[in-house]
Amino acid sequence: MIEINPSILSSDFSDLRGELAKIATADMAHIDVMDNHFVPNLTFGPPVVERIRAISPIPLDAHLMIADADRNAPVYAEIGCASVTFHAEAAAAPVRLARELRRLGARASLALKPATPIEPYIDLLGEFDQILIMTVEPGFGGQKFLDVCLPKIARTRQAISAANLEIRLQVDGGVSADTVGRVVDAGADVLVAGSAVYGAEDAATAIAQLRTLAAD
Ligand code: DX5
Ligand code: ZN
Repeated sequence: MIEINPSILSSDFSDLRGELAKIATADMAHIDVMDNHFVPNLTFGPPVVERIRAISPIPLDAHLMIADADRNAPVYAEIGCASVTFHAEAAAAPVRLARELRRLGARASLALKPATPIEPYIDLLGEFDQILIMTVEPGFGGQKFLDVCLPKIARTRQAISAANLEIRLQVDGGVSADTVGRVVDAGADVLVAGSAVYGAEDAATAIAQLRTLAAD
């Protein structure tokens, strides 16, 4: 089953309740946490995410684009995010952190920026419930999909299959009706879409369209 997780980064932050209601037919709400340090943009932190969790009709998929993940990520599991993604580039001890997130009941997920290879993590895959391959440089919505990342998605899927693991493979950045086919063909099964959902006339229709295209 392919998951569609709209990113609220492209939503109207002055009406989060209304914007979350629009994506009730999606699988999870993708919550981009940025600290103006790991990425050159700033969104929100635990107090706001905790309120979002309380009013969201669907579980939260937190994507932490923040420095010092070892210290800063566990709180997002504690406040009830169903999935917590931290960046490989921001974690000193990714295995220890993944185990901590699992212990706290979250899906433990490892993200890789476009220039970060999957190869150093191949033997560690079993420590994670999900791998997130970024297909734009993290920091902003509405950027162009980077086709150069497609081989990494395919290599990651092959490694997951070869190890006989059940790990979700999430792709984030520039996913739209135009690119979803290539992303799914490469092996992704969790699709994040920000501008393609919130920039559409009707979010529910855009979600349904992505589901249909992903299943083709
Ligand atoms: C980018 C964020 C993405 C972003 C995707 O740093 O991690 O989740 O919202 O936006 P689109 O789908 O517009 O590329
Ligand atoms: Zn994201």
